[in-house]
Amino acid sequence: MRLFTTTAGLRCYLERYRQGKEVGLVPTMGALHVGHLSLIERARRENAIVIVSIFVNPLQFAPTEDFQQYPRQLEQDRQLCEQAGVDAIFAPTAAELYGNGLLASEGGTQFTQVVPPPAAISVLCGRSRPTHFQGVATVVTKLLNLVQPERAYFGQKDAQQLAIIQRLVSDLNLPVAIVPCPIVREASGLAYSSRNQYLTQSQKAQAPILYRSLQQAQTAFQAGERDGQTLIDTVKLELTSISDINVEYVELVHPVTLTPLDRVTERGLLAIAARFGSTRLIDNILLQHRQPIVAIDGPAGAGKSTVTRHVAKALGLMHLDTGAMYRAVTWRVLKEGLDLKDEPAIAELVSQSQIYLTADDLGGFGVRVWIDGEEVTEEIRSLEVTARVSAIAALPAVRQELVKQQQRLGCQGGLVAEGRDIGTHVFPDAELKIFLTASIQERARRRQQDLKHLKQGDVSLEQLEQDLQNRDLYDSNRAVAPLRKAADAIEIQTDGLTVAEVTKQIVSLYHEKLSL
Ligand code: PAJ
Repeated sequence: MRLFTTTAGLRCYLERYRQGKEVGLVPTMGALHVGHLSLIERARRENAIVIVSIFVNPLQFAPTEDFQQYPRQLEQDRQLCEQAGVDAIFAPTAAELYGNGLLASEGGTQFTQVVPPPAAISVLCGRSRPTHFQGVATVVTKLLNLVQPERAYFGQKDAQQLAIIQRLVSDLNLPVAIVPCPIVREASGLAYSSRNQYLTQSQKAQAPILYRSLQQAQTAFQAGERDGQTLIDTVKLELTSISDINVEYVELVHPVTLTPLDRVTERGLLAIAARFGSTRLIDNILLQHRQPIVAIDGPAGAGKSTVTRHVAKALGLMHLDTGAMYRAVTWRVLKEGLDLKDEPAIAELVSQSQIYLTADDLGGFGVRVWIDGEEVTEEIRSLEVTARVSAIAALPAVRQELVKQQQRLGCQGGLVAEGRDIGTHVFPDAELKIFLTASIQERARRRQQDLKHLKQGDVSLEQLEQDLQNRDLYDSNRAVAPLRKAADAIEIQTDGLTVAEVTKQIVSLYHEKLSL
């Protein structure tokens, strides 16, 4: 593992070792704990090169805040990063990142800053820390520009920061995917934070009240409570059970726009800041009203598409037929007569197209497919579309656009989707994640039967096994949507099982998991 304290060293390292590989960045202020490590582990799974930045950013601390006392433990952080398989740490000094810009005695900081929208920084922590998010947005922009990662990882723990950064990246067209990561908590429910080390023993014993109070509100929400003030009062009431706590705010906002909510319709972010002595802690919970999502991933030939159709039917959920979506855009591209190699033109067309899927009212297994208001359910099954769809689906720009559309279709939940990275990338918060596998021999046997059934010739089992082995290798290493098993996916080995048996297993896992 390498450690760089200068931008020159970091630049040179990236120029030398990047060579087209994907880079994941995890920005931190150090004093690493299990929460940080969860971001690092996720970045390790998804990128060839992982860079962790460690920088206590003076620009995001007000003069009255804990910049001087903030824990600095680079040697311990270095060891943790090394164990977690980090490739390089970037730990610059303030002078290295800001030059003399912060020393200006007159007229405040002499440094170009990134200012998030006023509405986003006037709520929650922005009320008591009016310049904080400007400091965060500025340093994160600098880090993204220096490292130019494919992905950058941020915790839901700092939900306002996450929303502001997502907005920043979108508003300034920064070419990076922001990956939100769930809050990691101690067994007591207290969210890990570098500031927890300031707590005395008795404060630490009291601090889990933050999460407990949020859970109370979540229980009320799950029981149907949607009124903002009632949900906030539920949290406040629970917090009064502890005397040594000084509550700064309990607020309910939209998790993306951060605008205050009177009622939760779809989603709400319920957030708290409170002091225990002089230590300020924050926590939050996402209140979400949506139907569940089932993600089914796995290698080619494991029976995913048939199983998915049956599971959707058995559970009364919609089958998010991603294959049909790729077919629909292929149909559109062919209709426009675009050159199939002209990826920019195709990207432009796909980003302007809207796909909809509706249930097949005839009660069959299929879905009806619409693109830009036109029904194309039958058209997308043509030989011409079939012959071109894999070439179109292999284009990274098409994939990126369609993932966005799948997420749009999925925001209300109530669906089953299959693919290679549905549970890891498209719907990482799916309620149930299944990884369907089967031995190469079984998959080859099934494929041989399919081919026989379709009267497409007699291919030997050895040949099919070889083809599947190559396909697995390719699918696991492809740059676009590689096959991955989510850490929280349940693996089902389907050797010797019928479609009905696999479907039954998934349906009962669904009922178990959602305690229905
Ligand atoms: P820091 O507080 O060190 O946090 C670094 C990242 O770790 C943030 O994205 C934060 O949300 C995430 N994180 C912290 N505790 C977590 C937990 N318990 N579970 C999950 N994720 C957690 O946030 C900052 O640093 C700075 O503002 C920074 C973005 C680096 C800019 O200076």
